Amino acid sequence: MNNTSADVPLLFTPIKLRSVTARNRIVSSPMCQYLSDDGAPEDWQLVNFGRFAMGGCGIVFGEETAVEARGRKTHHCAGIYKDSHIAAYRRITDFIRSQGAVPAIQLGHCGRRASQHGPLKDRAALTEAERPWQGISPSPLPPTPDGVIPREMDISDIRATIVAWREATQRSVDAGYDICEIHGAHGYLIHQFLSPLSNLRTDAYGGDLEGRMRYALEVVEAVREVWPQDKPLFFRTSAVEGPGGVWGIEETLVLVRELKQRGVDMVDCSSGGIALGGEGGLSAVPRVPGFQAGYAREIRRETGMPTVVVGMISDARHAEMILREGHADLVALARGLMDDPNWPLHAARELGCADPLALVHAREAQRLRQLEQHSKAYPPGSAVEIPFGVEEQVAYSWAKGIAERR
Ligand SMILES: Cc1cc2nc3c(=O)[nH]c(=O)nc-3n(C[C@H](O)[C@H](O)[C@H](O)COP(=O)(O)O)c2cc1C
Repeated sequence: MNNTSADVPLLFTPIKLRSVTARNRIVSSPMCQYLSDDGAPEDWQLVNFGRFAMGGCGIVFGEETAVEARGRKTHHCAGIYKDSHIAAYRRITDFIRSQGAVPAIQLGHCGRRASQHGPLKDRAALTEAERPWQGISPSPLPPTPDGVIPREMDISDIRATIVAWREATQRSVDAGYDICEIHGAHGYLIHQFLSPLSNLRTDAYGGDLEGRMRYALEVVEAVREVWPQDKPLFFRTSAVEGPGGVWGIEETLVLVRELKQRGVDMVDCSSGGIALGGEGGLSAVPRVPGFQAGYAREIRRETGMPTVVVGMISDARHAEMILREGHADLVALARGLMDDPNWPLHAARELGCADPLALVHAREAQRLRQLEQHSKAYPPGSAVEIPFGVEEQVAYSWAKGIAERR
């Protein structure tokens, strides 16, 4: 599927997924911004996601994007539930593509985690004055012990949401995305169906593993039907749940085999989201660098499904090692890119790539090459004479400071 060469770091070897080629294996991981107005993205998203494309990422995700309005967590979550949203996303995909990266969308539905504030207000429930709405879920269980009880979905709700997934996928095609990821993790609607902690149904969508997987697989089938055959489909999974959770890696392996048969091309390996006693289990795993790499490796090895590794990766050599050792096919960063949007450029330098500046726009590369030349010609401590006039020179050295004029 992919050409590799011993000379080029694997992190910077292009990868072809169906007909889509990413220039390298660095992914900017989905990141909610909580800044949308009735679903549509703003200038903030253009700049925020655009800078990751400018910095050299191969694949740039936006944020979890709700397939229907009630599937948003907050009033300000992103959504793609109206045709009028398409143009706003098109502006972002056009820009990302113009910078050499592949634009990717993560579609989601929060289910029972609806009607909250964002993380800056500790995800507090909306008050009556703040126009709350009722979430939906496989069973009428609140996300936290004191959370709002969602409405149990009946068969017509299940069908309606699947139509919403399909329509949102079609809008994503029209908005110019080349990769679509289904959010099946972090305690959101699909995960609520998968976990026996949040799914107590006794009909065909609950009970044993086969029943609890039914909703996820029907969503995948609906999305795959409209998502073009030549474009890759990703699925984000919580490989294990939060503390006291019951969903573990064995269940994930069964799910991934089913996803593979339905045309999913890549599993994005996350964790957490549903814990005994409610949500808050996202810190299921100690946050060491690469804390989810073991899940990515296990899924890849046991099912043959290509994987994305994510979680506290910030060291280029570590990222390269994860790929070289066959733990994953792509490396995703969220906070690492927020900290350093030019991380891919810096990683390319660190790994000794032949021309790291080829990753950024020619306009920037030209000036940064000059910067490199100047830095080489005059390393710190260099002593020079700085002209102050036609006849007048003043000695300057970074180490010694500027000499006084005579
Ligand atoms: C600000 C922020 C927003 C996030 N939003 C999403 C999201 O929309 N969808 C998702 O699946 N994960 C989301 N995540 C999780 C990240 O995609 C990623 O899996 C996690 O932060 C671990 O990677 P990191 O250690 O590189 O930050 C978010 C993380 C951050 C920091």
